[in-house]
Amino acid sequence: MVNAGIIGTGHSYPSGILTNADLEKLVETSDEWITSRTGIKQRHKAADGEYTSQFGVLAARQALENAKLKPEEIEIIICATTTPDQIMPSTGALIQAQIGATNAAGMDVFAACSGFLYGVTLVESMIRTGQIRNALVIGAEVLTKYVDYTDRSTCVIFGDGAGAAVLAPVAEDKGVLATKIRSDGRFEEQLYASGGGTKLGTSHKTIENGDHFFKMKGNELFKIAVRSMTEISFEMLDKAGYKVEDVDLVIPHQANQRITDAVASRLGVPEEKVYSNISEHGNTSSASIPIALDECFRDGKIKADDLVLLTAFGGGVTWGATLLRF
Ligand code: ACO
Repeated sequence: MVNAGIIGTGHSYPSGILTNADLEKLVETSDEWITSRTGIKQRHKAADGEYTSQFGVLAARQALENAKLKPEEIEIIICATTTPDQIMPSTGALIQAQIGATNAAGMDVFAACSGFLYGVTLVESMIRTGQIRNALVIGAEVLTKYVDYTDRSTCVIFGDGAGAAVLAPVAEDKGVLATKIRSDGRFEEQLYASGGGTKLGTSHKTIENGDHFFKMKGNELFKIAVRSMTEISFEMLDKAGYKVEDVDLVIPHQANQRITDAVASRLGVPEEKVYSNISEHGNTSSASIPIALDECFRDGKIKADDLVLLTAFGGGVTWGATLLRF
């Protein structure tokens, strides 16, 4: 069996930016409240006519270039998204067509902010067992189209963007050393968008009710997020035979700076070993970890042999952790 590792990354954002000052004009909020409660200063926002696969394609092309692979060499594309272009075909298949990955299977994973780690977990085992050689895992979201800009508890958080990673066989002591994903659907009411599915359908009533918008019990989610990401990180480190002191860098899902700080404190990891870009990009759900990974590579924050811990939490609820040696 071979190990599967990340050999190339990329990311992309819409050019539109929504600042805290812009939000002050839409809802009763303030830059001071948003900054102190979330750490967010601005987020990217897709324009009318911009959609998820466009950003996924740009991120995927960069990741392929960095991995020095041609699109035809990819055998599976998993797009993690909660905001697909449309119900059918999958965004993974639409990205496949746009990048010319003619030998791949394209599909979506629907696990909110944990989606990228779900995708990595699936393709890692396919590569390790020799079923496939090269895979693309993309996290791509245009969340702002599902945000109610009269609801101050959600509209300050979410932003748009995409990140991508190419996974391929790597040396025995490198790549994914351990990975673990979980969900608990009993917490469905903590974060959901019920309109447009087969249960409620789409009608004038669902649109008038705003059922297609995200609804979130932020305060309760906050506590579950901190507990879940901390516990699964410890479980996964234990499974791989490592201690938290061995980790060179932690990249958590960028949900809220206070969640990141609380997870770091419970794990006992110093601030300088924890990556954060939330002030500039907000919460981009499944895109946040691959975007952060790409930024870390570009800025030289990840070096050869570094041990990197990724951990995520999202609607569902879902959560996960992945440990990689680069
Ligand atoms: N501006 C000003 N006041 C606000 C705002 C705002 N934007 N939003 C809420 N408030 C008010 C509330 O009305 C409340 O007022 P009250 O005390 O008079 O009732 C007060 O601020 C406190 O509200 P809380 O909800 O308790 O605020 P909290 O500190 O928890 O911050 C937040 C809210 C930022 C949403 C936080 O709870 C959070 O980040 N939660 C986790 C989000 C998350 O991780 N989601 C899952 C991942 S995302 C995904 O899966 C797609």
